[in-house]
Amino acid sequence: YPIFAQQAYEDPREATGRIVCANCHLAKKPVDIEVPQSILPDTVFEAVVKIPYDTQIKQVLANGKKGALNVGAVLILPKGFELAPSDRIPPEMKEKIGNLYFQPYSSDKKNIIVIGPVPGKKYSEIVFPILSPDPSINKETNFLKYPIYLGANRGRGQIYPDGSKSNNTVYNASITGKVSKILRKEKGGYEITIESSDGRQIVDSVPSGPELIISEGELIKADQPLTNNPNVGGFGQGDAEIVLQDQLRVQGLLVFFASVILAQIFLVLKKKQFEKVQLAEMNF
Ligand code: HEM
Repeated sequence: YPIFAQQAYEDPREATGRIVCANCHLAKKPVDIEVPQSILPDTVFEAVVKIPYDTQIKQVLANGKKGALNVGAVLILPKGFELAPSDRIPPEMKEKIGNLYFQPYSSDKKNIIVIGPVPGKKYSEIVFPILSPDPSINKETNFLKYPIYLGANRGRGQIYPDGSKSNNTVYNASITGKVSKILRKEKGGYEITIESSDGRQIVDSVPSGPELIISEGELIKADQPLTNNPNVGGFGQGDAEIVLQDQLRVQGLLVFFASVILAQIFLVLKKKQFEKVQLAEMNF
């Protein structure tokens, strides 16, 4: 969950560029982000995040049963950009956003926005309403090209914040030996007794969720998987670029274009005038 990241990491993007969700959501799946190419100051715009997956598939839930997937995301905006206040979001954008509740990552990181978990069936596409800063008011921002980073996820993670495995991952043998006994636990899951060649016995516990791929009597090596990998979800990263555009620069450019066109026209007119003079001066 994004809250696990908020509690454990001050900054969700590591120096390597990796977004911290990947530490617990181990599978990789594609995600996509779309933002306008450029935006004027103090303007509300949409960042559209896509978390595509087959919404028919089910995943292993914490209780071992099967259920639908949820999605969530973290959007890292340039400093000064933030969630648009509700009264500035136009009605048609509100419609696209739906009932989503976005949150800043932390009180001092308002430019980082998290969402989720929310049902993936409904929200495999999420519209973030964002307000651009005004460099004339916020002196820390400038008219520049900025990167935006996205981390987005569907499905349950593989590791809990305390380091323990969830039931949505592979379980491995802890020693080399022979599977001497497989006990199906009452509440689901298995206890697998492995006997090493020197007679040592170890019990590996598998929670309900993953399916066993070994059987009694089989010889196995340490770290060999005992189960399949039930994880059908995955995490992905993406980025985009946005230009914070100065209106004066655009107007200046238009004025320059107009002056170039006028200069061209006047040159042609001058040529025509000169041709008339040449004609008048011609003697036959
Ligand atoms: C569950 C997103 C960071 C561990 C989930 C779910 C979402 C999600 C959407 C629900 C999936 C479902 O029910 O189908 C994210 C995002 C993160 C993030 C966007 C980064 C901002 C982390 C971190 C950890 C973690 C850092 C580990 C410390 C888990 C686990 C579950 C889970 C173990 C399953 C919980 C359960 O059902 O028992 N996450 N997560 N996540 N996440 Fe994350």
